[in-house]
This record gives sequence, structure tokens and C-alpha cells, in this order.
Amino acid sequence: MNQSPTAIANEQDAGLLLADLVLPEISDADVKRFAVEIDRQGFSVIPSYVGNEIVERLSALVTKIIERNSGEYAVLTGSTEISGTLLDTIGKTPQLNTLLRRVYAAGTGKTPPAQSLYQVLRCISGQTGLHQAYFFHYDSYVVTALLPILIPKEGRAGDLVMKPNTRRIRSSYLYNLFDKIIVDNKILQNFFKRQAIERRCGFKNVRVVPGNLYLFWGYRSLHANEPCDPKKIRATALFHFGDPHANNGLRKFTGRAKIRATDESAPF
Ligand SMILES: [Fe+2]
Repeated sequence: MNQSPTAIANEQDAGLLLADLVLPEISDADVKRFAVEIDRQGFSVIPSYVGNEIVERLSALVTKIIERNSGEYAVLTGSTEISGTLLDTIGKTPQLNTLLRRVYAAGTGKTPPAQSLYQVLRCISGQTGLHQAYFFHYDSYVVTALLPILIPKEGRAGDLVMKPNTRRIRSSYLYNLFDKIIVDNKILQNFFKRQAIERRCGFKNVRVVPGNLYLFWGYRSLHANEPCDPKKIRATALFHFGDPHANNGLRKFTGRAKIRATDESAPF
């Protein structure tokens, strides 16, 4: 790639200020409903959470990133790579920050921790994009909000595929690490893939729509994406909140917390 994704993003998004971006205010009743729906069916959705203009801007950014990456898979993670982009601006809005914190509180019954959001932009395309399909995992964060940007309209669209709420929030980081190591095993991954393709054992797929916001318990749900046509682009922005093991000494020691959410002294 001739130019880094961040440089492209900065060039693309110059001039869009936080004050220009208005996201919907969500009522307490809706937040409670989201938590119930996520518990019952694995996810909840807020239709048209961002407007068409924002989706178009983000699509243009993603298209440039993929073009300059020779049509192959690209990912931007954490505050450094996202910094200065339109996604950074969206991630800093009080509306989105308070939404994820309220959903966390409604789902866990606990006070949200003083942590920042952790953001990822995944741009799936090309043969390297195909390698991302059916990689089943648990997120490190309780709440995952997925904002689709570009989704193929026909053919293989890279649907979200999930087996919702398969584990509880672990009391210890070691248990969490153990879960992740067990799941990150080729035999089990193939086993999950077969179940997911056949929609057995609780697996379901979700055809996501650009501009909607999908909420699920990423920490508790086994999930992945289905394959996407390599000639097309499937791009999603992810906003994660609520790392139950943020202050674990072992994780800090092993460096697994390096690019994660940061403590925030003045959260929304
Ligand atoms: Fe995930």
C-alpha cells in the first residue's frame, strides 16, 4: 500500500466536526428493550442509526483503502489508527458513548466501567478477505455495536453468523483466556463452521444493512462472518465497550492489553 489507511482517512474526512454529527437520542425504554432482545434472540438493531450521507462518506473512505491495498483485506484498529477519521468522530459522540454504556448497564445490572470505546474498521475484500470467513471468536468486550458500511447487495454478502450468549462473563481473566484458547483450535473451528453452514446447534446468520446499528453481547457470543465475494467489499465498523478484565495484571504483563480500550477519567 502506498499510503497508510489513516492517511487516506484523514484526507477523506478533513473538515467534518463532532458538532456536525447528530446521532439519535435513545430512550431508556428502548435501551431496556435492546437488552431483552439481545438476551432472547442474540442481537438487537437500531434502523438507520446513521444517515445516508455518513454511510456514503464512510463507503468512499473504505473504497479508497481497498483500492490502495490492491483489492485486499484491510483493518484499522484502536484509537491510533482510527484517529482523525470520521469513525473517530462517531466514536466520540456522547450519543454513541452513552448508548453503549446504558446497554452495558441494562444487560449486566452493573455500573459501566470508566473505559473508552475500542474501535475497529474491517474491510473485507479479495482472497485475503476470504481467509477471514468463519473465524469464530469471543470479543474481549461485553457490548459490541456493529455498523455496516458496505455490504454486497447480491451473492455472498459476508453475513454476520453467531451462536448467541454461549458463555457467561468470566469472573477471572484466566477463565476467559482459557475459553479463547479452546475456541482458537482448528478442529473446533471446523466443527463450528459446519454447524454454522447448516444453521444447527443455535447458529444463526444476520444479513446486515448499511447505516443500521446492530448490538450484541460480543464477549458472550461465538461469532464470525460468512464468506464475501472476493471481487466485492464488505466493510463494517465495530465499537466495543466494557472489558471485564481491563485491570488484570497477567494480561498487562503479557502485553495482550496493549491496543485495547483505555481507562477514562471522565467518561460520558
Ligand atoms: Fe468480534
